[in-house]
Amino acid sequence: MTLPNFAFFKGRIVPYSEAKVGVLTHTFNYGTGIFGGIRGYWNDAEGQLFIFKPHDHFHRFLESASLMLMELPYTEDQLAKVTAELLRTEKLRGDCYIRPIGYFADEIIGVRLHSLHADLAIIAIPFGQYVDNEEGSHVTVSSWRRIDDNMIPARGKIAGAYVNSAFIKTDAQRAGFDEAIVLNQDGHVAEGSAENLFLIRMGTVCTPPVTENILEGITRRTVMGLLRDDLGLQVVERPIDRTEIYLSEEMFFCGTGVQIAAITKVDHRPIGTGQLGPVTAKLRKLYFDVVRGNVPKYRECCYPVYQK
Ligand SMILES: Cc1ncc(COP(=O)(O)O)c(C=O)c1O
Repeated sequence: MTLPNFAFFKGRIVPYSEAKVGVLTHTFNYGTGIFGGIRGYWNDAEGQLFIFKPHDHFHRFLESASLMLMELPYTEDQLAKVTAELLRTEKLRGDCYIRPIGYFADEIIGVRLHSLHADLAIIAIPFGQYVDNEEGSHVTVSSWRRIDDNMIPARGKIAGAYVNSAFIKTDAQRAGFDEAIVLNQDGHVAEGSAENLFLIRMGTVCTPPVTENILEGITRRTVMGLLRDDLGLQVVERPIDRTEIYLSEEMFFCGTGVQIAAITKVDHRPIGTGQLGPVTAKLRKLYFDVVRGNVPKYRECCYPVYQK
């Protein structure tokens, strides 16, 4: 991965080499940070870079900060503006990934959330696909369970919680799968290691509700709207049993990183025909048009970086 040239760090844009923290930094030791993952999409015809739904992402970012008692003196709009400035400073003219990080900067020993000092860093890098098999991944059901909201807030994007995701992802890939589906403490389907999940059963699109220890994904919300309003499908949020995934007609992951990735096999069982299904194919095409700013109705979701 190419390193960024710049970072927003301690309130200003500096060369990336200057954006450093000490080894005693609280968040580095205890995982008490929060973060976001946002994509920028290049529109070649317009010569414009669009950040997709930055206000929604920064809203969740600030909610995660609030859960962690982390005071970050920025509004969603200020964060969107700073990010656009960073992308211009980086002179990014292609698809990219933006990573805001909120962290406790104190260099101390002591596990707690109170009486600490928060800081913010943002970086951006050129970025393409996050997974290799966007049109047909083979996944397994993880032997790990998704973190429970009474252990670490599941709806926050909290750094330490991603140890759970790392176990899920590594064990799946070492066993030869692309990804894993993780169940929650009740044995219901939660999501993937870093993506939400949808499946189609008897023509109805189903996804776990936000009370099932999922991350409240921005892409999940976008996809629910596209399926209902543009593809005319019924979308139901309800708990999903493990064996329902084996019987589904189509299934896909969605998330900022993974975008829309078809799941065509689970634990060696084909999903539907075992090929990219018609709804997932249509949704993928629509989603990529939306995020690049090519659908007038959804144009306001795309935040332009360059002045025209
Ligand atoms: C655990 C987890 N679930 C779901 C998602 C998808 O969320 P979003 O669509 O907001 O990127 C992510 C990615 O941020 C994630 O880390």
